Amino acid sequence: MKIVLSGIRSTGHLHLGNYFGALKNFTQLQHQAKCYFFIADLHSLTTHPKSEEFHSNVKIILSEYLACGLDPEKSSLYVQSSVPEVSELYVLLNMLSYKGELERTASFKDKVRLNPNNVNAGLLTYPVLMAADILVHRANWVPVGKDQEQHLEITRLLARRFNKLYDVDVFPEPEAYNFGNNLVKIPGLDGSGKMGKSEGNGIYLIDDQKTITKKVMRAVTDSGPTTPGSPMSPEITNLFTLLSVVSEPQVVSYFREQYDKCTIRYGDLKKQLAADICKHTLPIRARIEEIFNDNAYLKYVIEKGTSEARASAEATMKLVREAVGFKLF
Ligand code: TYM
Repeated sequence: MKIVLSGIRSTGHLHLGNYFGALKNFTQLQHQAKCYFFIADLHSLTTHPKSEEFHSNVKIILSEYLACGLDPEKSSLYVQSSVPEVSELYVLLNMLSYKGELERTASFKDKVRLNPNNVNAGLLTYPVLMAADILVHRANWVPVGKDQEQHLEITRLLARRFNKLYDVDVFPEPEAYNFGNNLVKIPGLDGSGKMGKSEGNGIYLIDDQKTITKKVMRAVTDSGPTTPGSPMSPEITNLFTLLSVVSEPQVVSYFREQYDKCTIRYGDLKKQLAADICKHTLPIRARIEEIFNDNAYLKYVIEKGTSEARASAEATMKLVREAVGFKLF
């Protein structure tokens, strides 16, 4: 049986990018494979969140996961820091990771550019911790968005390197997974390439209808097509990408035709887009608050998931320690 793992940092609320990039695939996969889904609280430490907010950030993401349809009876849900085997594997994989290759990752370069005063070692080795998350369960599939492709490549590289160095076959090489389709990249509403938590350009699963409509109506557009067949600007391409994710195909082709005939009214497209986003997110929103206030349920989910995840991680670490040469006196 295939093993699936995915995770999300515990920073801020979940947005459409998280949902359509990772969670939606995951909620489908949990019916066909052994699935682990975790909250990356250690990863979130690279940006030094306040201690008094640390736990509530985790609780928010857990409630949102469950509201999206993750089923604790089918998947194991846990918090990264509660599985210490992950940190142990992270140390060992760090010995196989080279500064030059980590410095070349696009996400590291972006972070350095955006935050030149906080270039900590955790940021540099972010992909190594991610590799530890995945390899500790010997996962085969990792449902993630397009932004994580390069991190998956590093994971495969480290899996191969470990197996070769110790002449073992402990780690499979995991694949980024999206039901045989291309990986998804959900764009922001500001004309930028990616919807993100730190970019402030997102629609969140907890947003109400009014907020969603307001955000979509304010999305950046251009002055409209003037000649049929002229190339589409990045801002309008983004709106069509969002539409193709949330709307029926005939709705997308209707607006595409209007665009090609230069008769499109961006206001109409945005109204439709906002309504179709609401169809996906409002039922989830309704469940979030209820789950967030049910502490006993959250405790049950996490205790069950943690013990399952630790059993799987411990089995891997036994093989890893043996391969490296750790022995008891
Ligand atoms: P994070 O928290 O930035 O995002 C969580 C998941 O959401 C996806 N995603 C997107 N997909 C499409 N379009 C977008 N605009 C978009 N924004 C986010 C991400 O691809 C991801 O799947 N490093 C990871 C967390 C992590 C992880 C792991 C994931 C830590 N260890 C092991 C998988 C396996 C991250 O920061 O995701």
